[in-house]
Amino acid sequence: MIPVLTIDGPSGVGKGTVANIVAAELKWHILDSGAIYRAFAIAASKRDIQIDNTEQLLELASNLDLRFAPDSANNILGVYLDNQDVSSELRTEKTAELASKFAMIGPLRESLLKRQQDFRKLPGLVADGRDMGTVVFKDAPYKVFLTANVEERAKRRLKQLHLRGITGNISHTLEDVRKRDERDASRKHSPLKPSKDALIIDTSDLTVDEVVTKVMALVKV
Ligand code: DC
Repeated sequence: MIPVLTIDGPSGVGKGTVANIVAAELKWHILDSGAIYRAFAIAASKRDIQIDNTEQLLELASNLDLRFAPDSANNILGVYLDNQDVSSELRTEKTAELASKFAMIGPLRESLLKRQQDFRKLPGLVADGRDMGTVVFKDAPYKVFLTANVEERAKRRLKQLHLRGITGNISHTLEDVRKRDERDASRKHSPLKPSKDALIIDTSDLTVDEVVTKVMALVKV
C-alpha cells in the first residue's frame, strides 16, 4: 500500500508551501491538484469552450496534454500544456477563478480523477487540493485540513503574487479569495470540506515551520 498524505484547505492557506516542504523532507512525490484544474481552465479558454458544453469539456479532459516538470532547485513547478510553458499564466487570479468555475462540473471532476490518482507512486505521495482526503485519496492514511481566517489568507495570497511579480491589492484579493472559497465550499460535487478523519490545523497564528512540524508529527507516528 503506497502511503499518501493529503493536505486540503481553502485558497491562500499555504497548502502548496507546506506540501512542498513536507514532500522534500519525506522524499515523496507531490501532486498539486489545483494546477490540473488551472491548466484545464487555460486549455478550455484557449479553445473557447463554453462552461455548459460538457461534451467538449470532457473530450478536452481526456486528451489534455499536460506535463509537470518540478524544478526542486528553484522550488517551482513547471507546467507544460501542449508542450508550452504555462507556469506564469497558471498562477494568475483570472486562471484561479476560471478553474474554480470548471471545478463545479461533476463529470469533469470524474474524468480528471485517474490523472490525479496516477501520481500515487512509491515511496509515497503528498497531495494538496480541496478533495484529496474526501474523494481522490479517500483511503489515505494521513490527512490534514489547513484553515486560516480569510484576512490572513488574502495577505498570504497577495505576498505570493508579489513574489511572482504579479500586482494586486488587498481588498481585491480578499474579495477574490472569499468568492472562490464560497464557490468551492458550496458546490454539489466534491465540495471543500475536511474529511472526518483529517487533522484540522488552524494556521492563522502559526509560522510555516510550526505547521510543517505538526504535519510531520502526524506522518511519523
Ligand atoms: O489550489 P488552487 O488555488 O490552485 O486551485 C484552483 C481551483 O481549482 C480551486 O479554486 C478549485 C479547484 N480545485 C478543486 O476543485 N479541487 C482540487 N482538488 C484542487 C483545486
